[in-house]
Amino acid sequence: MIVALLNQTRGAGRTTLAVQIAGELALQGQRVALLDADGHSGALEWAEARRRNSLPALFQTIGVSSRELRGGLWGLQATLDHLIIDTPSHSADALRSALLAADTVLLPTRPERPAMGRCAATMQLVAEAQAAELATTAALVFTRAPIGTSVEPGAEVTVCGLRLPVAASMVRERMSFALSRGTGLLVHEIDLAGQAEGDVRRLVGEVFGVLPAVAGG
Ligand SMILES: Nc1ncnc2c1ncn2[C@@H]1O[C@H](COP(=O)(O)OP(=O)(O)O)[C@@H](O)[C@H]1O
Ligand SMILES: [Mg+2]
Repeated sequence: MIVALLNQTRGAGRTTLAVQIAGELALQGQRVALLDADGHSGALEWAEARRRNSLPALFQTIGVSSRELRGGLWGLQATLDHLIIDTPSHSADALRSALLAADTVLLPTRPERPAMGRCAATMQLVAEAQAAELATTAALVFTRAPIGTSVEPGAEVTVCGLRLPVAASMVRERMSFALSRGTGLLVHEIDLAGQAEGDVRRLVGEVFGVLPAVAGG
């Protein structure tokens, strides 16, 4: 599967989720690569922090241009089970290219209405791709969700007349996600109680069908 994390809002949690999803798939024995279409503060930076801290890579992190995304990614899919694409917030070109390459797109967003409102431009791009029968599946993923937030299975969100389903598995606001970003660590390497990894594992199960979907706890 090729899954792209998109949201034109900075700080939405794209890189954090892309890295943790790739890490979880690698832990489950899947052959996965993380593609960074955001030269500035994307997944490559995380991978570099991991390398600096002498941690094993677990999966390849590769910088890609919009042109490479559109050009079919050197046939990487043939040798890997999954590709995860981290995208920038500032480049509509990169987002469109990621939509061309991906079969599933996830839009991470905080669950509050104003944050969801800021997804409208990205939802519009997704709607255009779906109208052109490009990205087959798209969903919002609630990230940094406060305790008490819940999502009914099958829930949908409408923003500016655009409608998208919401993943039932959400990612909570947790210190280990915040620590992961600068250290190159995966959350299971930080949070030994496994709560953050549980968030990621449930989401991976729901999106990739690796595990049965379980409502977020
Ligand atoms: N679930 C979370 N809990 C706590 N902090 C988070 C979570 N997700 C992201 N963050 C923090 O929010 C900031 C933005 O996240 P990042 O993944 O870099 O967003 P984006 O790639 O969309 O710009 C980072 O400082 C990151 O550590
Ligand atoms: Mg980022």
